[in-house]
Amino acid sequence: MTKIGLVGLGYWGPNLARNFGDLAELRWLCDLDPELRELFAPRYSNARFTGDFDDLLNDPDLDAVVIATPAVTHYELAKRALDAGKHVLVEKPPAMNAVEAEDLVSTAEANARVLMPGHLLLYHPAVRTVKALIDAGELGEVFCVYSNRQNLGKIRTDENALWSLGVHDLSVILHLLDEEPTETWAHGSAFLTPGVEDVVFCYLRFPSGKIAHMHLSWLDPHKMRKLTVVGNEKMVVFDDMELERKVTIYEKGPWQPTHTYGEWQTRTGDISSPKIPSDEPLRLECRHFLDLVAGKGDPLRAAQDGLAVVRVLEQLQASLVAAPA
Ligand SMILES: NC(=O)c1ccc[n+]([C@@H]2O[C@H](COP(=O)([O-])OP(=O)(O)OC[C@H]3O[C@@H](n4cnc5c(N)ncnc54)[C@H](O)[C@@H]3O)[C@@H](O)[C@H]2O)c1
Repeated sequence: MTKIGLVGLGYWGPNLARNFGDLAELRWLCDLDPELRELFAPRYSNARFTGDFDDLLNDPDLDAVVIATPAVTHYELAKRALDAGKHVLVEKPPAMNAVEAEDLVSTAEANARVLMPGHLLLYHPAVRTVKALIDAGELGEVFCVYSNRQNLGKIRTDENALWSLGVHDLSVILHLLDEEPTETWAHGSAFLTPGVEDVVFCYLRFPSGKIAHMHLSWLDPHKMRKLTVVGNEKMVVFDDMELERKVTIYEKGPWQPTHTYGEWQTRTGDISSPKIPSDEPLRLECRHFLDLVAGKGDPLRAAQDGLAVVRVLEQLQASLVAAPA
């Protein structure tokens, strides 16, 4: 059984602990906060608790480290773990800039270790369904993708809406389209905390001519977690706020009758909703990591995907900073 050490027992770490507690041997739990260590000690009585990350790295029997600490700490902790010969699952984003993300990828490659960023939505069965529809050509030629991630939600003061919310949609958009944008811009504003944008609009153009847009905000009346893909044959919507109809396929599109000399008309047909398995995305993500550690699957792919997300986030951030207020 794979032996896991988890660092970070704040908001998200306990979800990872629950899953790895079921799927692997949870050998170490680490947090700087003694109260959190005390809180979780009864639940994981077989694990060792520490506030010192080095205890995990110095354990020769530990296979892998799972990092669920704040984003700014990811690069340093992941780098140290890879250098100590451990496989690494690091929460998103794996680093705060592309140079550091590249360094992690090359360290993982040089040490023949798995580096997997926790891009949760890639394991969402609905995203897998949308990807399968695109890859099978069901939508025809894909023209554009746009996402909405809005809420009157958790107002962050340390990370802007682009890095906190956009990282999710960006990972999905790059995965669905399987290419990296050549043109990126972001506009937004910091209304509440100086320098921390609460509302961000992003535009991406890809080499194939496809375009994408993301609306990211924690100052919004609507709670939206939605992604729309427009193809010339069909259009599909993934709505994560829906309990049952998470994916809706619209047989709608443009068409050109032969007798009308270049005039476009529209076509509307059935609207359907495929059954989406109710598997917990985080459980699938943890399983995928354990598979990679066991030598099943392409370990470089996950690391490269994480790097691409950081690269585009960095470009969007540069454009956001450069944009006139
Ligand atoms: N995939 C998702 O949907 C999702 C959701 C929420 C958060 N996250 C990610 O999870 C990560 C953690 O977020 P959170 O909201 O749980 O943060 P948090 O602040 O609630 O918890 C972080 C914990 O890490 C501990 N910590 C920090 N540095 C440490 C160190 N060097 N050694 C040991 N412990 C240390 C802190 O004491 C704290 O308890 C972030 O990267 C965030 O982006 C992912």
